[in-house]
Amino acid sequence: MISKEEIKLNLIFVFAIFYSTIAGDPDILADFVVPNNTTIDANNFTFTGMRQLVGGEYPTTFTALKVSMNELPTLYGQSISYAVLEFPVGAINPVHIHPRASELMFLVSGTLQVGFVDTSNNLYKQSLRIGDIFVFPKGLIHFQYNNDTTEPALAISAFGSANAGTQLIPTSVFNTSIFEGILDASFHSTRATIRKIKDGLKA
Ligand SMILES: *[C@@H]1O[C@H](CO)[C@@H](O)[C@H](O)[C@H]1NC(C)=O
Ligand SMILES: *[C@@H]1O[C@H](CO)[C@@H](O)[C@H](O)[C@H]1NC(C)=O
Ligand SMILES: *[C@@H]1O[C@H](CO)[C@@H](O)[C@H](O)[C@H]1NC(C)=O
Ligand SMILES: *[C@@H]1O[C@H](CO)[C@@H](O)[C@H](O)[C@H]1NC(C)=O
Ligand SMILES: *[C@@H]1O[C@H](CO)[C@@H](O)[C@H](O)[C@H]1NC(C)=O
Repeated sequence: MISKEEIKLNLIFVFAIFYSTIAGDPDILADFVVPNNTTIDANNFTFTGMRQLVGGEYPTTFTALKVSMNELPTLYGQSISYAVLEFPVGAINPVHIHPRASELMFLVSGTLQVGFVDTSNNLYKQSLRIGDIFVFPKGLIHFQYNNDTTEPALAISAFGSANAGTQLIPTSVFNTSIFEGILDASFHSTRATIRKIKDGLKA
């Protein structure tokens, strides 16, 4: 006979496995999702916005070209998206998080200094060379930096969500209307220092 205790434990175990397998967007109940009564064809599954990269010049500042469900609506419910990241010499992708997805970054050109911080505040940093792939776990603070003095860098990132979302920490914390007293106290700092940081972001 199985005791009630054992049944309870087994149920907890089953639910733990069940939940641990939900790593992407919620499943959709169709092959793909489009608005009712609209006709679609292969073009609705095609994104041509990256063609500009072929033979193009590097931009002068860090640039992310995204293809998420905002750019390609048929990605809705497919749990995947891409971004092409271009880093001219010295460019930084500031500390940020993607709340809904892990990021798997493939360095196609140049070198990159990357890192993320886990919830125990351990920093994991790496110097990437061409051909390297690095994973930024879902929801963790991370950054990328091209510290080379001559070569630009180009990376392609895959995300495990059709809408990974991005929160830039400098912007989300210092360039919104969070009451300055909260920021002073949060950073054990003075109003003048907080204002200085805020002014820097407004420029
Ligand atoms: C599409 O049509 C179906 C059946 O007519 C309906 O149940 C569903 O709510 C509609 N969806 C939208 C987004 O209008
Ligand atoms: C879609 O078209 C069918 C047939 O023309 C119609 O009955 C239905 O109400 C339409 N649905 C929507 C959401 O417009
Ligand atoms: C499909 O693509 C066409 C243009 O190729 C566009 O006009 C239409 O809105 C798209 N339909 C959907 C459901 O995204
Ligand atoms: C950038 O490169 C310089 C010169 O090699 C080095 O001193 C510095 O530590 C590097 N910074 C980072 C963040 O990798
Ligand atoms: C900060 O906010 C201002 C005003 O909303 C905006 O013009 C500026 O681009 C923002 N700066 C950053 C770094 O997001």
